[in-house]
Amino acid sequence: MRKRIVAGNWKMNKTRAEALALVAGIKAEVAALGAAEIVVGVPFTDLDVVGQALKGSAVQLAAQNVHWAEKGAFTGEISAAMLKELGVTYVIIGHSERRQYFGETDETVNKRTKAALAAGLKPIVCVGETLAEREGGQMTAVVERQVRAGLAGLQGADWDQLVIAYEPVWAIGTGKTATTAQAQEVHAFIRQLLGVLAGAAAAATIRIQYGGSMKPDNAKDLMSQPDIDGGLIGGASLEAKSFADIVRGAL
Ligand code: PGA
Repeated sequence: MRKRIVAGNWKMNKTRAEALALVAGIKAEVAALGAAEIVVGVPFTDLDVVGQALKGSAVQLAAQNVHWAEKGAFTGEISAAMLKELGVTYVIIGHSERRQYFGETDETVNKRTKAALAAGLKPIVCVGETLAEREGGQMTAVVERQVRAGLAGLQGADWDQLVIAYEPVWAIGTGKTATTAQAQEVHAFIRQLLGVLAGAAAAATIRIQYGGSMKPDNAKDLMSQPDIDGGLIGGASLEAKSFADIVRGAL
């Protein structure tokens, strides 16, 4: 009942020319694959050309961050309205790299999430524990804190727009994937928590993606788990063939 969602997170990769080549490849590979939602999360500077290139295709456009204010003196920031204007439908919020390198906190994740929703963008809110947190027995406490604080104040129809990405930090870009059982355990925990926060009906419909070294050879197993509804893909989304092979794993 939950439509799977596979999103590429290109991070700080691809000039405009490179982005156009990649997106042409993705369109060619996935044109016939209608059963999953397919999203590309591209750098701000690629949004306009990629958005143009995606017109008329089912592939959707995501940004990798958004500021919470509507406008004003926030040098270097981009508002939700600016993203909407470029045809963006999803926005990745609170990625662990932003938490680690750019001072992102649960509070700013929450502000961005609310601003995105208010502007009609669908947030992909990222959560996940570090290796030290997992080994220190704090995994569920950390994920619970990130979910509760990041989603504080959401109500009603907000929940229908939300996607969560569970990305164990130790699995991102490391080639170490969580086992299907490890991933499913946390996904089930998040869904149960969503039941408390949003109610059982909403919790049953919210998509929870797995992210962290998802590749063509592990995607199908991960996404066949009952609470894993797709993937947020970094490295393997930078090449059309591997991205499309992961999408095929979602069908
Ligand atoms: P990875 O990145 O697939 O390269 O591990 C995932 C992510 O950071 O979203």
